[in-house]
Amino acid sequence: MFLSNPFAELSAQIPVAVMQGYIVLMVAFVVIGTILDMMHKKSAKYFFLNAEKAKKNAKREVGAGEKIAIATKVLVVEVATSGEFKNVKRRLSHLLTMWGTVVFVATTAILIFKYPTPATPAPAILPQLWHIGALMLAVGGYWFWFSIRVDVSAEGLPWYRVERADLFILSLLATSTFALIWSYTQFNGIAGWSTLFLILFAASGVVLFGGVYWSKFAHMFFKPAAAFQKRVTVADGSRESLPPDYDLSSPEVHKLFPDVPMYMGKNPPNMGKGIRREPAKHY
Ligand code: HEM
Repeated sequence: MFLSNPFAELSAQIPVAVMQGYIVLMVAFVVIGTILDMMHKKSAKYFFLNAEKAKKNAKREVGAGEKIAIATKVLVVEVATSGEFKNVKRRLSHLLTMWGTVVFVATTAILIFKYPTPATPAPAILPQLWHIGALMLAVGGYWFWFSIRVDVSAEGLPWYRVERADLFILSLLATSTFALIWSYTQFNGIAGWSTLFLILFAASGVVLFGGVYWSKFAHMFFKPAAAFQKRVTVADGSRESLPPDYDLSSPEVHKLFPDVPMYMGKNPPNMGKGIRREPAKHY
């Protein structure tokens, strides 16, 4: 199964153009969903508002060269190695989930656009990476869902409790799980079931990429931008004048974000995507 390209076999039933059209549609969903999310959350407005405020409080100018060094640090620390997570288990689970998703999604596109039929055999490493990516995502995601996420680990809520904030993690898990079962049933010639799991795989993909506006999907774009901004404000010295970590109970943050209700309780309410019920500081 790990060496077989499931999309090449699928091309006997579904035209290659339909598979490629599906990928293009999912990319369009992500672009449109992220733009709508940014408009809805006014994240771009706050991002530049912050940059303006920081510039006024800056003790020194951060040059282009230094900004490139900072961007490189963000790519290596916050992005590639999930450096924002202080909790080792959470960091490992996020690394599995994130890199599993990247490998799984990238190899899906390469297999469908470059090696879509048996006449265009893919190098063995590609279907292997496709299956390994889906497995990494499943292992990291189920670990997070059943034992790491705060609802379960800190608040003792049952693992089967679902809320809208879980749309992202659940659609990730559904997509990877149905993909693996589809590949297995297709490889073993279990026709009826492989059709069912193909439909479930494609449908959960539509929920994952089509649900960006309602889920936490776009955090993968916002978090690096926020991490970059944070590092720049530390470098130019303006950070001292801002509260350390956008503590929702801080009057300063409230002045900055007047329409974000101040919250003095232990567990801030779910403020929509990207802010989970967790202490403001460390993950
Ligand atoms: C393919 C890319 C990525 C995937 C699949 C992914 C997946 C996830 C998942 C499933 C969660 C838990 C969501 C939940 O609480 O239900 C999460 C949270 C988080 N991710 Fe990612 N992530 C990705 C990229 C990134 C990047 C690039 C960064 C940072 C630069 C990042 C930083 C975080 C942080 C800080 C949290 C905790 C958010 C919170 O609890 O408020 N992620 N990610």
